[in-house]
Amino acid sequence: MHRPTAFEALRATGPDEKIRLAHEAHDAGRPRQLHEGHEGDEGHERRQVDAAPDGQPADVPGGHHAAMPDLDTVWQVDAPGRPERPRLVHPARVPRRGLATPLGRAALVHAIAHIEFNAINLALDASCRFAGMPAAYHADWLRIASEEALHFSLLREHLRRLGHDYGDFEAHDGLWEMAWLTRNDVLARMALVPRVLEARGLDVTPGIRDRLASHGDATAATILDRILQDEINHVATGNRWFMWLCEREARDPKAEFARLLELLDMKAARPPLNRPARLAAGFTAPEIDGWEGADAPMRA
Ligand SMILES: [Fe+2]
Ligand SMILES: [Fe+2]
Repeated sequence: MHRPTAFEALRATGPDEKIRLAHEAHDAGRPRQLHEGHEGDEGHERRQVDAAPDGQPADVPGGHHAAMPDLDTVWQVDAPGRPERPRLVHPARVPRRGLATPLGRAALVHAIAHIEFNAINLALDASCRFAGMPAAYHADWLRIASEEALHFSLLREHLRRLGHDYGDFEAHDGLWEMAWLTRNDVLARMALVPRVLEARGLDVTPGIRDRLASHGDATAATILDRILQDEINHVATGNRWFMWLCEREARDPKAEFARLLELLDMKAARPPLNRPARLAAGFTAPEIDGWEGADAPMRA
């Protein structure tokens, strides 16, 4: 876990560079014994020290940390690095195409790839922007950034198989908007990005997966299955840190969530919900019951 590298990744404009740095920010300082065979303790310790980023002191005693994590620095961007393409347009102006044509299916894969690209930035930003959080918080969000980078890579690779690439279609910037609105408050960020936006992904992904499968795109379906499993964990992580922050600040989680939603004029969820996935992600049955009874559409 290396926050300075995460900030480099956040600012990187090229997708390949962003992906490489996102993986690097997560991998830095992690013990590598799982990938490097069965050598003795001495060799293990040496590799941990080797894994320390340049210029960082190695925290060798005990051998559990290659570098002291930097937890106090705040790194902020007004907008994350992104390539010139895709061209960003108002959400209402992103063309909607049916899935009957190869172009329509590629456009859908592109739209999901764009969400994953934004998700890399959101996860990196969750670590870079907020100081005063435990090392485990940063380790969680840099792991998630690395997983989002993998999701993006899988979808981009598939898009290329379909004869297109990331940037070929127009896209919108709605996800970063929520990062911006929650830029000053880590509790609001945890409440509204993983618990609302990423959780919404749990609800809609199975339907998108089935539509792509029914139009013959089994590869896209397999990728979306993988993504859904990881996303359950991302939402669970957001739930965990939201509860942790509520406890630290002696706030009632239910009232706090309701207050934040009202502040931004948002709904927590829009049925139909993916109940098993939401339960697995740490939402409670009464919470889900409440949202399933809600009839007003979410505005986010
Ligand atoms: Fe993802
Ligand atoms: Fe995610």
